[in-house]
Amino acid sequence: MATEFTRWLGIDHPIIQAPMAGAGSTPAMTAAVSAAGGLGSIGAAYLSLDALAAEVAEVRSRTDRPFAINLFARSESAPGAADPAPMLALIARHHEALGIEPPVLPSMPPDPLDSQLAAMLVHQPAVVSFTMGALPAADVARLKAAGIKTMGTATTVAEAKALEASGVDAIIAQGSEAGGHRGTFFAPWQAALIGTMALVPQIVDAVSVPVVAAGGIMDGRGIVAAEALGAAAVQMGTAFLTTTESGIHEAYKAALLASADTATTVTLAFSGRPARGMRNRFLTEVEAVADQILSFPLQNSTTRPMRSAAARQGDIERLSLWSGQAASLGRRMGSAELVRRLVDEAEAVRARLR
Ligand SMILES: Cc1cc2nc3c(=O)[nH]c(=O)nc-3n(C[C@H](O)[C@H](O)[C@H](O)COP(=O)(O)O)c2cc1C
Repeated sequence: MATEFTRWLGIDHPIIQAPMAGAGSTPAMTAAVSAAGGLGSIGAAYLSLDALAAEVAEVRSRTDRPFAINLFARSESAPGAADPAPMLALIARHHEALGIEPPVLPSMPPDPLDSQLAAMLVHQPAVVSFTMGALPAADVARLKAAGIKTMGTATTVAEAKALEASGVDAIIAQGSEAGGHRGTFFAPWQAALIGTMALVPQIVDAVSVPVVAAGGIMDGRGIVAAEALGAAAVQMGTAFLTTTESGIHEAYKAALLASADTATTVTLAFSGRPARGMRNRFLTEVEAVADQILSFPLQNSTTRPMRSAAARQGDIERLSLWSGQAASLGRRMGSAELVRRLVDEAEAVRARLR
C-alpha cells in the first residue's frame, strides 16, 4: 500500500491509528501500529509532561518507526452554566453510586499548550497532529523547522482552508461519524456534522495538501472508499478501541462490539465540548438538563473522578463511551494484526473492484 504519502512519512501503509487521549490509545498500541507499518499516535492532550516523556520513551523502546503525538489546540468553546451547583449535585449522585467521595469543583490549571509544544521540540516525533483549533502559523513553522510534520483536524471546508493557511502539511478531515471529540473550531458544532462521504471530497477539492479521512472507517471497504474520495490515508479510532493493547475496560469493549448503528450521539455531557459516544445513564441524565453543563475544560475536570472510578469498576453507565457510528464492525485482535488485516482487506476490495 505504498503511496506518495507513505513515502513522505516513512511508513508502509496509509493507516493512522487515531490518538485517543484518556485511555483508548496506549504506548503499546502506538508502538504496535507503527512497527506494523502504520502510523501510531500518542494522545497527549491530558498527559503531564512527565507522563508524556514516559510514553514517548516506552514507544521508542518498542519501535524505531515514525509515530505521531497529538495535542488539543486552543479555540473558544461554548459558554457553560454560570452556577456549577446543579451539575455538582447531579454528579454527586453518581459518586454515591460508585462509592467515592462527593465531587468538588476543581481549580482550572493553566492552559498546557505552550509547554506541550515546547516538549514536542524535545521529543521530536515524526508528526504532531492536533484537533479543536488551528495552531498559530509561528508554532507550525517552529515545528516544521525542527523537521516535524504537522497535521490539523478539520470538520468543515472553512476549517480546512484555515489550517492550510496556517502552514500544516496535511489535514485530517473528520466526518460526523467519528468517535470522540469533534475537532470543530469555527462553525457552531451542530452545523459541522458533515458525514465523511460528503466532507472528504469537498476538502480534497478545496486544499492542496494531503487529506486524511476519519470517521466511521472500520475495515478494508472503508479504506478503499476513502481512497476513492481522494484521501491520501485514513485515521481510525474506534476500530483500535477493541484491540488487545487498548486501555479501555473489557465492559466498554463488549458494549462497543454489541452496539447498534443508532447507539451514539454527539454530546457535551462529559467534557463541555461536543464528542460522539454511546448513550448511557449519565449522558441521558445530563442531556435532560443541558443548560447546567459547565464550559470546557471545567466540565471535563469535574466529571473526571467519576469517569476514572467508573473505568476502574467497569461501570459503563458512568463512563464516557466514546465511539464512532460503526463500532459493531470492530474486532478483537492485536493492533499489529489489525493493521495487517486492514491491508489485506483493502487489497481484496481493490481486486474485487478491478
Ligand atoms: C476514544 C476516542 C478518543 C479520541 N481522542 C482523540 C484525541 O485525543 N485527539 C484527536 O485528535 N482525536 C481523538 N479522537 C478522534 C479520532 O482522531 C478520529 O477522528 C475518530 O476516531 C475517527 O472516527 P472512528 O472512531 O469512527 O474511527 C478520539 C476518538 C475516540 C474513539
